[in-house]
Amino acid sequence: MTHKEIIIKWFRQIEGIRKASKIVANTLKMIEAYIKPGVSTEELDHICNLYIKRNWWKSACIWYYQYPKYTCISLNDTICHGIPSKNEILKEWDILNIDVTVIVDWYFGDTSRMYTVWKIIPKAKTLVEVTKKCLEIWIKQVKPWNKTWNIGYEISKYAEAMGFSVVREYTGHGVWIHLHEEPYIFHKSNKNTGVIMKPWMIFTIEPMINVWDYKTKTLWDWWTVKTLDGSLSAQFEHTILVTEKGYEILTLPD
Ligand code: MF3
Ligand code: CO
Ligand code: CO
Repeated sequence: MTHKEIIIKWFRQIEGIRKASKIVANTLKMIEAYIKPGVSTEELDHICNLYIKRNWWKSACIWYYQYPKYTCISLNDTICHGIPSKNEILKEWDILNIDVTVIVDWYFGDTSRMYTVWKIIPKAKTLVEVTKKCLEIWIKQVKPWNKTWNIGYEISKYAEAMGFSVVREYTGHGVWIHLHEEPYIFHKSNKNTGVIMKPWMIFTIEPMINVWDYKTKTLWDWWTVKTLDGSLSAQFEHTILVTEKGYEILTLPD
């Protein structure tokens, strides 16, 4: 392959991921109107899937290592990979994360955000705000020639100063040919470690922040990850492109 052909292939890849990222971001925006007491997480999953499967878009979650649903919906003390269920009914005071991943023309997009159900207890409000604010902290670290794990260094410094803890086991990940590939981004790490960021790298950043301890447990369904101590957990995820000057957040809605 000539240099020119490689550049064209990269350009197409980035355009494809950009399109898939837009779709997942718009799915999260669309679903907001359906979040209310009495709705089951399975219904939310179904609505997201109906939205995604118009055209030829496809959820990248279903059957991913036997995962049985189209999205991940994680309530309260569930950290991530919550399996939507008809028996799980939203009620006032719940906080939840919806994580949407699609594959469009073989390109992936991956994003998640928190929602609240009408009312929120003060501690949960602070948790969600701090987790959201992590974005402002880590985005400053996304620039060419910086080391990837400075992202986790800054996230953990901030979240821990606010009295919360950072989940260790689940990381951000490169998105390119595969949904999960190098570089993996730890959300707690040492300064100036990891790999050097270069223009046109694409990866997710998806910190999971707990009110008490960072330890986790996985349920017998093989997927649902909860806080070990039962405390609340929050997460926001974006897919990011490193550019020549800095970054572009690909998973912003229209
Ligand atoms: N969206 C998840 C992530 O952020 C991956 C979910 S895989 C699934 O990496 F199988 F659980 F859906
Ligand atoms: Co991800
Ligand atoms: Co995700």
